[in-house]
Amino acid sequence: MLRACRLEPVERTPVWLMRQAGRYLPEYRAIRDTVGFMELCKTPRLAAEVMIATVHRLGVDAAIIFSDLLPILEPMGLDLEFAQGEGPVIHNPVRTAADVARVRELTDIDQLGFVMDTVRATRAGLDASIPVIGFAGAPFTLAGYCIEGGTSKAWLHTKSLMYTHESAWHDLADRIARAVSLYLVAQIDAGAEIVQVFDSWVGCLSPDDYRRYVLPHSRTAIAAAAKRVPTIHFATGNPALLPLLREAGGSVIGIDWRIDLDAAWKIVGHDRAVQGNLDPAVLFADRDTVRRRTQEILARAAGRPGHIFNLGHGIMPHTPVENVLELIATVKGG
Ligand code: CP3
Repeated sequence: MLRACRLEPVERTPVWLMRQAGRYLPEYRAIRDTVGFMELCKTPRLAAEVMIATVHRLGVDAAIIFSDLLPILEPMGLDLEFAQGEGPVIHNPVRTAADVARVRELTDIDQLGFVMDTVRATRAGLDASIPVIGFAGAPFTLAGYCIEGGTSKAWLHTKSLMYTHESAWHDLADRIARAVSLYLVAQIDAGAEIVQVFDSWVGCLSPDDYRRYVLPHSRTAIAAAAKRVPTIHFATGNPALLPLLREAGGSVIGIDWRIDLDAAWKIVGHDRAVQGNLDPAVLFADRDTVRRRTQEILARAAGRPGHIFNLGHGIMPHTPVENVLELIATVKGG
């Protein structure tokens, strides 16, 4: 995995899956029957155990820490809740310039000490050959949650603030970018050997808007970590943003399924590694289809050094576990 990040030759393509520990796994559901999601994130011993067990069960080549994008927002003054069956809710969303001024600068990273403890416990519990991936949300995606108060389809409040109060937007995005930068470096200090930045929802923007409102902040978020370890910069929904993601940073660029892997890699440039890009919905098909579609992506990578196999976005609840195992076996050449 580390060699692939650095574009060095590998014996076979490394594979891990975004959201690899989650509700599709009966073992995970059993733990969640006894503990709430945030409580799980804030109990490093358990969080580490969830990911370690998942890595052993699946035989993947990397362990992303078990946590979430949103806990970083709590010490910044946002009132976060994972409501049963609803996903994340922020009870005091940031809608106006005055609200932006109330968002606290994150200076004391110890407020997120449980995440660094999870990194240490995950690292300690796994074979040295499995790198631990730390992660954070990108400024746009985190600001989007702050402003909408939860997930959104159109991100209208976010765009409204951006377009009508540009300086308040930049103020918020910059505050988040500096927090993310600090947070990623703290995860590296705790033992993360790779970090991934998730810009899960930025695909709703045009390239011009990305360049103006987002790129400088994503660059700030990634730069300090990039001096230390390989970084994975992931976004979904809009292949037209790929050249700009590259510009913002990332030794590895995450590719979703809306573009063919080889076409995406050409745009990103062969001097960067790529990660992706099977449609997570393919895992709901029959096993032969899973095998064939996985092989098709490997064929598009054509053995070029610097491909990390992953889905184009996170694994979905109800995904059949046997298909996940089939995918991994196929990448491993079984
Ligand atoms: O591989 C892993 O499982 C590692 C842990 C991980 C989680 N979330 C656990 C989680 C990671 C890397 C994330 C990142 C994350 N969180 C993203 C970026 C990835 C992506 O899919 O774009 C986003 C957008 C979030 C925010 C978030 N967290 C949402 C929208 C939700 C609710 C929807 C959902 O899938 O449940 C969560 C909850 C969440 N994060 C769960 C897990 C395992 C499910 C919570 C539960 O157990 O009920």
